[in-house]
Amino acid sequence: MRTHLSRRSRVAASATAAVLGVAVALGSGVATPALAADTATLSSVILGVGANETQRIVSWYSSADNAQAIQLAPTADLVTGEFPATAATFAAVGAANIATSGGYNRHATITGLKENTAYSYRVGSEGNWSSAYAFKTQDFEGDYDFLFYGDPQIGASGNVAKDQAGWTDTLDVSLAANPNAELLVSGGDQVETANTESQWNAFLASDKLRQYPWVATIGNHDVGGKAYEQHLFTPNTDRSAAYYSNGQPASNTSGGDYWYIYKDTLFIDLNSNSYATSQGGGGDAAHVAYVTDVVKQHGGDAKWTVLVYHHSIYSAASHAKDSDAKVRRTDFPKTFSDLGVDLVLQGHDHVYARSYLIKNGEKANAAEQPAAEDVFAGPGGVLYVTANSASGSKYYDITKPDASGTNGPDPLKPSDYWYSSVQNQEHVRSYVKVGVRSDKLVVENIRSGSCAAPNASVELGSSCTNTTEAQPVGSVVDKVTVHPYHGDSQDIQVNVPNAKPGEFGWTIDGYNGLVDLGTAVEQPGDYFTAAGKINPIKVSDSRRSLSPWSLSASVGDFKDADKTFSGSYLGWTPFVADAGAGASAGAAVESGYGTDGKGLSVSRGLGSAAQGHTRGSARLGADLDLKIPADVAKGNYRTTLTITALSS
Ligand SMILES: [Fe+2]
Repeated sequence: MRTHLSRRSRVAASATAAVLGVAVALGSGVATPALAADTATLSSVILGVGANETQRIVSWYSSADNAQAIQLAPTADLVTGEFPATAATFAAVGAANIATSGGYNRHATITGLKENTAYSYRVGSEGNWSSAYAFKTQDFEGDYDFLFYGDPQIGASGNVAKDQAGWTDTLDVSLAANPNAELLVSGGDQVETANTESQWNAFLASDKLRQYPWVATIGNHDVGGKAYEQHLFTPNTDRSAAYYSNGQPASNTSGGDYWYIYKDTLFIDLNSNSYATSQGGGGDAAHVAYVTDVVKQHGGDAKWTVLVYHHSIYSAASHAKDSDAKVRRTDFPKTFSDLGVDLVLQGHDHVYARSYLIKNGEKANAAEQPAAEDVFAGPGGVLYVTANSASGSKYYDITKPDASGTNGPDPLKPSDYWYSSVQNQEHVRSYVKVGVRSDKLVVENIRSGSCAAPNASVELGSSCTNTTEAQPVGSVVDKVTVHPYHGDSQDIQVNVPNAKPGEFGWTIDGYNGLVDLGTAVEQPGDYFTAAGKINPIKVSDSRRSLSPWSLSASVGDFKDADKTFSGSYLGWTPFVADAGAGASAGAAVESGYGTDGKGLSVSRGLGSAAQGHTRGSARLGADLDLKIPADVAKGNYRTTLTITALSS
């Protein structure tokens, strides 16, 4: 009687682990959507930033007030566009919209995203899903780019269609040039008129806003209603009265300050509409306290601090001398310098302006030259950037310094403001690209349009000074590299990449010869016995996940031509021949002879390791013990031991 070993399956541990990892991480907190046929109309879907790089928030409108959710799966798991049964679901919450918007709003937070993964998602409920949209994650550490867009302000030109065309084109142009940009950061003023949904529809028309996370910032044109909050749910948002311009979060107004950390950058986004306590909100003092608290609590978790708010305090056009800008120019800069803020991104003045490094409200280094390509922050140096219109709906022309003291001239170029390193207004669309690198921020202002359409403001009569030959779409208006300050000490950095994920596998150790149990020996009591050992199995597990594994085996019936006896007569005693990989031997299984047991005719554990085991390899063996009834016919019987591995 003889047995031999065969291997049936070798589990690709790393692939299995990846699939299960997503299911585990994403599978919680699922609300069961209404199963009844539901005909809610789903609209205004927008992908938003989450609290960190493993999250996204999706917001949308619904015509009906039913239970809804986001469904999400790695795009690789979709089969001919169908979401798999393993898709994760994230229950949405929301409320009724204000009457002028109609319908309801919904949002949900996607959590547990994995790096370097393409995902597909849709919103709605079973039987009534939206179209599917896609986004991708990238490496969760290291360098990355984000894009900053000033005042799309759809409707500002008076022609929503033209504004939409320019806005959509800037998204297309900027993301064609920077397909791996990771965030689309708003400078505020998404729309011209706060609650006008036709303008929101135009703002949201581009599918790019469903593929890249939009980082909302509230502008003065967004603040006068709830539509901003209905459309753009943001993470970690403090909706205290102080962060609402009128001090009334429940009123028909939007607001709130919020923060998030994305890949070593702490972003803090302020509702700069609340700036004077006389309006009812907490004003600048509340923002200063907020930024201080957030930096103190979370600054240690990031390498960079970037602030974003709408009302530029160092701009160069129509709003440069606004009284509120002058007040904020007093209220903000010292705190930002003290807290080590690296970059402040602003809008509102529809002009491109890059400040000199500003420390405590003054030029940090009198010797810094206009348009310097490299600036060195020193202690307290902060770069303030104002973005021009990303849509072309409205541009403001550069204004002149005065003798007021707060808006005086730059001694190095007296026609510009003292704080302006670069000012630019050509009446063409542009966006700001920020490259976050290991020891520098690279800030560029890049043209996304020319004088030609789509350029609503110019189409409707304003002038344009751009020259397509010298300043084409994609050309750089300004570029500066900010080198941060490291104090008197030296900072040392090292990038540690992901270790190889490792692999789980098993193999028969050595030559897989026939396991020959020899000739069975008749025993007193009317049965035969035979014994032997399986060929040792070598298990190796180098996975970083330290996930469990197990090996099990079973045999079929022993056969010789048409003669047979049951595999249940074979028993075994597994053992660990060489320890490692956390291996422990399976339980001994006795022959089914005389006991009515099933022996090895059913799957039995040879060895296993628990979660958290050491990495390495082991050799497993087993003593075989066969007992068969004496009435089995003479013959030369064989069976096959089939080994199955499981790993997660
Ligand atoms: Fe604006």
